[in-house]
Amino acid sequence: VLGGASLGVAGCRATAEVAGQLLRSGARLPKPFTVPLPIPDVVRPVAPGRYEVTQRVAAAEILPGLRTEVWGYGGTFPGPTFELRRGEPVTVAVRNELPVPTSTHLHGGVTPPGSDGYPTDLVVPAGSALRPAHPGEVHHPLVKEYRYPVGQRAATLWYHDHRMDFTAPQVWRGLAGMALVRDDEEDALPLPRGERELPLMICDRAFEEDGSFHYPQPFDTPPTGHGPPPEHSANGGHGRHGPPGGWGKLGGDYMEGVEGDVILVNGAPWPVAEVTATRYRLRLLNASNARRFLLRLTPGGRFTQIGSDSGLLAAPVAHDAIPISPGERYDVVVDFSAYPVGTAVTLVNALADGPAGNVMRFVVTRRAPDDSAVPAVLSRPPRRVRPVTTRRFDFRATDGAWTINGQRYRPGVPLARPRLGTAEIWRLTGDFRHPVHVHLAHFQVLARNGRSPAATDAGWKDTVDVRPYEVVDVLARFDGHRGTYMLHCHNLEHEDMAMMADFEVI
Ligand code: C2O
Ligand code: CU
Repeated sequence: VLGGASLGVAGCRATAEVAGQLLRSGARLPKPFTVPLPIPDVVRPVAPGRYEVTQRVAAAEILPGLRTEVWGYGGTFPGPTFELRRGEPVTVAVRNELPVPTSTHLHGGVTPPGSDGYPTDLVVPAGSALRPAHPGEVHHPLVKEYRYPVGQRAATLWYHDHRMDFTAPQVWRGLAGMALVRDDEEDALPLPRGERELPLMICDRAFEEDGSFHYPQPFDTPPTGHGPPPEHSANGGHGRHGPPGGWGKLGGDYMEGVEGDVILVNGAPWPVAEVTATRYRLRLLNASNARRFLLRLTPGGRFTQIGSDSGLLAAPVAHDAIPISPGERYDVVVDFSAYPVGTAVTLVNALADGPAGNVMRFVVTRRAPDDSAVPAVLSRPPRRVRPVTTRRFDFRATDGAWTINGQRYRPGVPLARPRLGTAEIWRLTGDFRHPVHVHLAHFQVLARNGRSPAATDAGWKDTVDVRPYEVVDVLARFDGHRGTYMLHCHNLEHEDMAMMADFEVI
């Protein structure tokens, strides 16, 4: 904990111990729309095609005048942005100087299995005496080289920690950043670029009075209600696994996932950005552990969606509101020439009242020339291919854990074996809101409850919000690599409470 003593509030933890919805530092919260929007640095290669990133503990000033300890790629939160190009493979050496093991996943990446951030493929800190906690756990001492072929279309990707049982607290502490893949097809379009292209990583957090992140679970203790199957119950001494049903002690809020009332964009609370009265491209990412947003512009305005999780749409689609669940991305253009100069245009979350109802603000400062456009034809996305089979994945609470098809996550035990180069229909159902993410495979939403999907479901995606008792059919393509990958709920507390499964591409 940093800075507590100087504020005279160390040990002052009077706030009710209710997970989520926490706003502990009311006196120190900035007025919304006063902190300038930061843009994360773009990481530079150390040699052509080679990057080196160190995960380390660092101090950040997130709330003005307070210090927050972050665990960051490069010591920053968000981590630096990777600018990747289709057809140009890269190696990223990730060095772990944190006090905990990590595994890094490029979310949306078409990545070989050894570099995909498998939850037990860990980079362990130097000097760690960690013993394997799960069957098949692999320990890379200190540094791991992740290899990314970058054979995929231009898209808005992101990267984050994926350590088994600990993804939620480790991402909450800062282990996430954006990765943009570009290609010739996209370069040929007259879309807004340069300063008029803004990556916006949106996530919620809660803070202690002293500015440190508040998370309702110790960072070195896995959530209860999870755990290896009974025959592998040894946990290596680095944590405890609760008995079946043990999660109930954490209270319903934790079970639903952890939320905070402070909304950060690129790591800054309710920031403000000055814009010219021109078109801007916004790369929206919901990097929250559990919070969903329904994004709107006030006073009124439209988003022109040009891309989904996995790249450009065939044609733009206009929306008044964008629902975005954890893990999803929306690539949109907003035309600020629709507003008089001087207008404050606020990005709000229509799902929340109070502080979490605001996200950030744009202030239109002046007119400026604009040679950008959103063409009626954006790209030629890959076609749908005929599915060879249908599989069902049911996401629900079973015997005290979050499960898929009644199973808690068992690393190395695939629930499905799709064939490379084929497509399958995956029918996703559940008992709660579960943003379902599939590694490697990209999919299109075919139907919700047998009806046409929403306009905001357009395009190729890797994450889809499955609502309670809804039946969501997606058509997934298994291209690129053979090997073991995961599907899981991207509510990160659900993921850590075992809502994950392997599938093996054969
Ligand atoms: Cu963004 Cu398997 O996760
Ligand atoms: Cu879930």
